[in-house]
Amino acid sequence: MNKSNVVKTFVVISVISFTLHLLNHYSLGVLGLLLNFAENKETRLYLIDPDIISMNIFNGRNTTTIGDGNIITLGMNGTSQTKITLFDHLKDKGFRVFCSEVDTTVNLTLSTHSNKHLPAHFLIYHKHTDFLIHIVVFYKRYRNFIWCDRIQIEDLIQRIKQENLSWLKTEMLEKLHFGRVPFSFNSINTTRGILGNTTLLVPENGDKFLKDYNELEFIECNYTRAEKYYREYKMPREPTDWVLKALEMLEKTGEALDKLGIPFTLGEGTLLGWYRQCGIISHTSDLDILVFREDYSDDIFTSLKKVGFTHKNTFGKASLNDSFEYSFRWSRVKLDLFFVYKEKDLFWIGGTDGDKKLRFTLPKFTNCWSEMLGVRVRVPCDSAAYVEKSYGKNWYKPLKRWFWAKDPSNFKVVGKWDRR
Ligand SMILES: *[C@@H]1O[C@H](CO)[C@@H](O)[C@H](O)[C@H]1NC(C)=O
Ligand SMILES: *[C@@H]1O[C@H](CO)[C@@H](O)[C@H](O)[C@H]1NC(C)=O
Ligand SMILES: *[C@@H]1O[C@H](CO)[C@@H](O)[C@H](O)[C@H]1NC(C)=O
Ligand SMILES: *[C@@H]1O[C@H](CO)[C@@H](O)[C@H](O)[C@H]1NC(C)=O
Ligand SMILES: *[C@@H]1O[C@H](CO)[C@@H](O)[C@H](O)[C@H]1NC(C)=O
Ligand SMILES: *[C@@H]1O[C@H](CO)[C@@H](O)[C@H](O)[C@H]1NC(C)=O
Ligand SMILES: *[C@@H]1O[C@H](CO)[C@@H](O)[C@H](O)[C@H]1NC(C)=O
Ligand SMILES: *[C@@H]1O[C@H](CO)[C@@H](O)[C@H](O)[C@H]1NC(C)=O
Repeated sequence: MNKSNVVKTFVVISVISFTLHLLNHYSLGVLGLLLNFAENKETRLYLIDPDIISMNIFNGRNTTTIGDGNIITLGMNGTSQTKITLFDHLKDKGFRVFCSEVDTTVNLTLSTHSNKHLPAHFLIYHKHTDFLIHIVVFYKRYRNFIWCDRIQIEDLIQRIKQENLSWLKTEMLEKLHFGRVPFSFNSINTTRGILGNTTLLVPENGDKFLKDYNELEFIECNYTRAEKYYREYKMPREPTDWVLKALEMLEKTGEALDKLGIPFTLGEGTLLGWYRQCGIISHTSDLDILVFREDYSDDIFTSLKKVGFTHKNTFGKASLNDSFEYSFRWSRVKLDLFFVYKEKDLFWIGGTDGDKKLRFTLPKFTNCWSEMLGVRVRVPCDSAAYVEKSYGKNWYKPLKRWFWAKDPSNFKVVGKWDRR
């Protein structure tokens, strides 16, 4: 749900709060039952319902209403031991229970003896009160973020037919906040809060939670393609020391820019590495990242310096609006930060080769989250288009020699810089 819908819902709820109060009364009882049940299973549930959380935008955390009373979204931490049958015994207490499983091809780094069937979403419906509790299971991925799968809709539709799941109505599914696409969060820190007459864990920082919730879809790197690439070209798989340093630098960059709320995206050769081999091309010497021109702030420079980067160069000094680019160094790794200029039908970044001014055109893109060697990164959602535009049809072939100011298929020389 987007922000304006959240506001709309809020207005509607205020107007008809009298009717909803009745619904809440019963729903609260049902919720209490479920929370008790979960507690007995040593499962801690926490509120992640964006509608309810957005009613506390002033950052107060105790709330007296539970949304529209018909549906509530909760989260829980999953491990390799979490069972898809976790809530099955609720069936004896007047509940219907559906569990959607995690896509088995997804590359979770859980313990090695992890079971094959992991729950992704529980839909728990109480028939007498027409109340749906949606529980989203978050899994830790690598070292720095949590992730939840989408609901496997094809599977769901088939099971509605095969099993007797007529209680799972389409209107109900359309109201779900999570499950359309996979999602990731850095973390969801919780604290005790009050929901109606029930105590419940809620996000410590509601605003931060909502900001993250309104962010991006998570897409998987294509490990099949990567596997094929390593096999076909007999490329070493083990990350070199340089690659490990480069990853560390990427995390440092995140540290500096996340604080400012400035998103950055993998670009150029670094994106090619992610797209082709789910890794970093080890015979390059730098990492390339992109920041939209409209997100420029002087703080980028100071913040990178503060976390230990050394400034090397600034290109396009004449104007922020033409070919602006920073180059920094951290340990043995060079970072090229390009500012992306948006035009009606395309995006572009600039380059400076001696006194030549170059322009590289990029297809328009939006960002998605993904993961590279364990680090959560943003990439263009349609990376295929970007990679083909920059590297041509043969992007798949490894090249030992690549000169950025000569070989790309998407650039032209647009002028000369003034010597001064
Ligand atoms: C909360 O209120 C509901 C409805 O009045 C009631 O059924 C439920 O038992 C109460 N829960 C607690 C923990 O007091
Ligand atoms: C919410 O309620 C709990 C329990 O009564 C209380 O400890 C906490 O301070 C309250 N939080 C806010 C923000 O009012
Ligand atoms: C969920 O896991 C995170 C670590 O990934 C931890 O910090 C958090 O406290 C856990 N939350 C609950 C409710 O158990
Ligand atoms: C399916 O569920 C409905 C109500 O939910 C029930 O009336 C019907 O008997 C069930 N059918 C079967 C085959 O279990
Ligand atoms: C959660 O807590 C950890 C450790 O205190 C902190 O580093 C992190 O920034 C917090 N995350 C959020 C989203 O508040
Ligand atoms: C992953 O890459 C392989 C090989 O290039 C391709 O056949 C497949 O369609 C890709 N998978 C997805 C989901 O894009
Ligand atoms: C430079 O770009 C910014 C943001 O895109 C824009 O608001 C501003 O008008 C531009 N300035 C000039 C001189 O073109
Ligand atoms: C999972 O990720 C690791 C590390 O990124 C990679 O080496 C491995 O090939 C991946 N496995 C699968 C099955 O995708």
